[in-house]
Amino acid sequence: MTDLATIRTRLAAIDQSHLLNFYPTLTAGEQQSLVRQLASLPLEDIPALIDGYVRRKPAFVLPRDVAPAPYYPHDAGTGSKRWDKAKAEAAGEAIIRAGQVAAFVVAGGQGSRLGYEGPKGCYPAGAVTGKPLFQIFAENILGIHDRYGVWAPWYIMTSPLNHEATQSFFESHKYFGLPRDVVQFFPQGVMPSLDIGTGKVLMASKSEVATNPDGHGGCIRALHASGALAAMRSRGIKHLSYFQVDNPTVRVIDPVFIGLHASAGDSSGEMSSKMVPKVSPEEKVGVFCHAGGKTQVLEYSDLPMELQRERQPDGTIKFIAGSIAIHVMGVEFIHRLATDEAFGLPYHRAEKKIPCVDPSTGAAITPGANNGVKLEKFVFDALELCKASIVLETDRVEEFAPIKNATGADSPESSRQLQTLRAARWLESCGVAIPKTAGGEPDCVLEISPRSATSAGELKQVKLPKAIERGAKVAL
Ligand code: UTP
Repeated sequence: MTDLATIRTRLAAIDQSHLLNFYPTLTAGEQQSLVRQLASLPLEDIPALIDGYVRRKPAFVLPRDVAPAPYYPHDAGTGSKRWDKAKAEAAGEAIIRAGQVAAFVVAGGQGSRLGYEGPKGCYPAGAVTGKPLFQIFAENILGIHDRYGVWAPWYIMTSPLNHEATQSFFESHKYFGLPRDVVQFFPQGVMPSLDIGTGKVLMASKSEVATNPDGHGGCIRALHASGALAAMRSRGIKHLSYFQVDNPTVRVIDPVFIGLHASAGDSSGEMSSKMVPKVSPEEKVGVFCHAGGKTQVLEYSDLPMELQRERQPDGTIKFIAGSIAIHVMGVEFIHRLATDEAFGLPYHRAEKKIPCVDPSTGAAITPGANNGVKLEKFVFDALELCKASIVLETDRVEEFAPIKNATGADSPESSRQLQTLRAARWLESCGVAIPKTAGGEPDCVLEISPRSATSAGELKQVKLPKAIERGAKVAL
């Protein structure tokens, strides 16, 4: 029921009647849209969420048997988990050729740390060309088509806050050369944003509740609710190659990773992950652990510092496997979770500055400090629901150059440097001379389109210069 009287009663029952304070002053259209928005929110869940996440901060209990998660080493011939890379790659390539893999990017976040107006996927990320992130991913998919002769469908999760802007960006760029029906958009759900002191739901304006996307973990429900999952199942897609919108060096579809996920003896083929070794105990990334017989990611803030500082006898960090948010997810696994009535990933609390209006006067508030709590679900919490989940080590320079912050670590500048470093490495392996600074860094800016190559091996097929000039900017 979406009539005003019902909404008024439901709001009174959860002590959130202020959300209708301005109702009498709104236009008829605004009134309708506010009532419609309120009816779409999980109002009855709000009191328990305020109690569990605003009044109290959720307590974290460290599993007693927590240990580092085992992983497949980047160098397949070393470590305790030896494996056959060529075999995994062949298995992955067969799966790709059979049309059983879709690319899946979660692009519903708000990108508030970067402070870029517009969907983050539109951000000019290419080190030389300034190509938008979405174009870089599109070129990956074009490259897959060139190499394997199949169009891997590309699913893009947006949020109601950026869905239209994302779609029109693709329209205005003619889908970056992809056939129109290769790209599928669907929006994730939202949660009401809560006042950090009182738990009252914030209002974005007099006629709109302040909401936030419900986290990348919201993708499991959204894939199902949007019909995307049913479409995948009917077209024979078995695996989703999951990545985040902020990483221009991700291999959008990696045959080795897909093959290992689908065929390793200790993988249930439900959900697998890539990791990079942490550079220091203090590096703020989630860590792959093993507890209660399950792989899981523990957040940096939850894993006690004394454990993070523990070392192996050879001096390496014991809890070394840093999460870079690259996964392969089985379509049947997602279907099992999403259709289970009892399924629900836990919420995580994030404290944020949320622009809003004063609920009694309607005056706009631009907060100088955190004034709100966002509730979000994290996709890696699904790892614990797998029967057997594997972790593959990868090289940071090869596939992790995220753009999260405006400056400093994980910024456009650090991403440009990493893109250059990787390209220099690949070019050198093909015999191209790279100019270096006194410190040994490439003295140039380089960018390799993933349509040209997604690995040093693939670059060998490309016509290359003999040398790069000092200070040059070269895109290949
Ligand atoms: P982040 O954790 O970096 O969050 O998202 P964010 O919202 O983009 O950025 P900040 O924290 O406001 O600066 C990691 C990935 O998960 C996606 C993002 O788009 C990004 O690809 N994401 C995040 C969603 O798709 N939905 C969400 O609700 C949150």
